[in-house]
Amino acid sequence: MVSVVITGRGGAGKTTMTANLSTYFSKNGYRTLVIDGDLYLPKLAFHFGIYNPVYNLHTLLKNPDMRVLNAVYHDVNTGVDVLPGSSRLYDVLDLDNKRLRDIVREISARYRMTIIDSPVGIPFDTISTFRLAQYQIIILEIERCPIHSVHRMVENEVIKLKTLGEAYGLKVGVIINKVRESSANVDDVVDFLEYSVDVPVVGIIPYDYKVPEATNMGRPVLDYAPHAPASKAISEAGSVLDEWIFGRKKKEGFFHRLYEAITSFLHSRRAPAGKKL
Ligand SMILES: Nc1ncnc2c1ncn2[C@@H]1O[C@H](COP(=O)(O)OP(=O)(O)O)[C@@H](O)[C@H]1O
Ligand SMILES: [Mg+2]
Repeated sequence: MVSVVITGRGGAGKTTMTANLSTYFSKNGYRTLVIDGDLYLPKLAFHFGIYNPVYNLHTLLKNPDMRVLNAVYHDVNTGVDVLPGSSRLYDVLDLDNKRLRDIVREISARYRMTIIDSPVGIPFDTISTFRLAQYQIIILEIERCPIHSVHRMVENEVIKLKTLGEAYGLKVGVIINKVRESSANVDDVVDFLEYSVDVPVVGIIPYDYKVPEATNMGRPVLDYAPHAPASKAISEAGSVLDEWIFGRKKKEGFFHRLYEAITSFLHSRRAPAGKKL
């Protein structure tokens, strides 16, 4: 059982990434669960077309006698199991952190992969679940930031969240999301993150209008439009995570291997530079 917590600023794409990375793992043969840890504004279930779940994490927190499995919904399109939050406004001020941790521990033991979506910023509500996790993925959106202040923003945001994750013994990675073609500073940010902040960048996802379109249809974009640019980049990130977390290298398809064989053959026959044929 592996648990991953997804953190980051509001609107950076935490919930979208939780829905889509879970879809990636499910479609690649891992029994996968997602948990909506954003207790004030739970939105994760919308990504799977679940709008008013009668039983949910909030009802589990309120009723200790309720069976955890009753609040888990299976999404047939993706194969992902979803533990949603309630769309009603519940009082979560007196949240029982131990109960939350017990629920997450009990349910996640049944899965190979569990991904927990967090609330904005420092996830105080769900911090107790950090103890159950092994990995933390920070979703970073650099677009809304003027170039000159990118480093300061990255320092502010990533270092704080990374320090928090590492205090709980989590291995930390970053996914940069909503990258537009205009953002020539992405390479610079990647270098800064990997060399100065010392955190690996496991994915770079372009801004893609298919993402909100898929969410409006109640489906993760990876399932709704698998060939969209964002879907391809999310799959790349998924395979990097698969190798990082489970040590599994993605098997290349027949045509890819054929292409590799032909290009390496052609390269081996290419005359050295400057030599006349
Ligand atoms: N790669 C992307 N391209 C375009 N829109 C995106 C992308 N990722 C997320 N979004 C959009 O950004 C908004 C915020 O995403 P969300 O996942 O809810 O963020 P968070 O959970 O971090 O608050 C949503 O409208 C979502 O559709
Ligand atoms: Mg969210």
